[in-house]
Amino acid sequence: MKLILLGAPGAGKGTQAEFISAEYAIPSVSTGNMIREALKNGTEMGLKAKSFIDSGALVPDEVVIGIVQERLSAEDCKNGFILDGFPRTIPQAEALDQMGVGIDCALSIEVADEEIVRRMSGRRVCSKCGASYHTIFKKPQTENVCDVCGEQLMIRKDDEPETVLNRLKVYHDQTEPLKDYYQAQGKLITVEGQDKVEDTTALVRKALSEI
Ligand code: AP5
Repeated sequence: MKLILLGAPGAGKGTQAEFISAEYAIPSVSTGNMIREALKNGTEMGLKAKSFIDSGALVPDEVVIGIVQERLSAEDCKNGFILDGFPRTIPQAEALDQMGVGIDCALSIEVADEEIVRRMSGRRVCSKCGASYHTIFKKPQTENVCDVCGEQLMIRKDDEPETVLNRLKVYHDQTEPLKDYYQAQGKLITVEGQDKVEDTTALVRKALSEI
């Protein structure tokens, strides 16, 4: 299966990508994670992306298109993949079409802006392995400590309230039009994000079983 996950920042794309990746045994390709990794490693691309990511703006199309093209040509993507956070603009979607990878569907997780702001304020991430938690919805076993690697949890810089509002604006302006783009291709599926992760997962499972 070749799947695109759409949705506002914090709609739960990363959370559902983890589930789908395990269920269908396909890799999750998260542009956000790849950019953060490049930033952590101090690569040229990471340095270029820093100011954009910190302010909640999108990294320029040509940078992201290049890293996705390279990633999708890897052996583990041959039998399918989940694109989490790409495409995010019409030019990115057009570039993906030109790569000729043949997407099966674009699944959009719908969550209201007020709920997004509430969720983002509780998100905590591991500074070492990147695992994601929530102070209410997905607590680690020990407060502020990663279950996977034991490292301290931190708040993502772009989860600060002002930046979240900017990310939401960018989403509505530049990414939401992709719903019409994939609707026109007959590939759009929407799922209403629920209060509990497992309830959203159940809807996602059902939607994907009907493709
Ligand atoms: P990226 O990392 O892709 O951020 P995002 O889309 O803003 O998505 P998030 O990771 O914040 O949220 P999510 O939808 O994955 O939600 P999650 O599952 O974590 O991108 C970051 C930045 O990189 C961008 O701003 C941009 O600068 C740059 N970038 C990336 N891709 C780019 C591209 N293609 N082009 C240009 N620039 C790009 O859930 C959020 C929280 O809610 C978690 O704490 C979770 O536990 C909780 N939660 C999840 N589901 C539920 C539920 N059902 N109920 C309650 N809580 C829930």
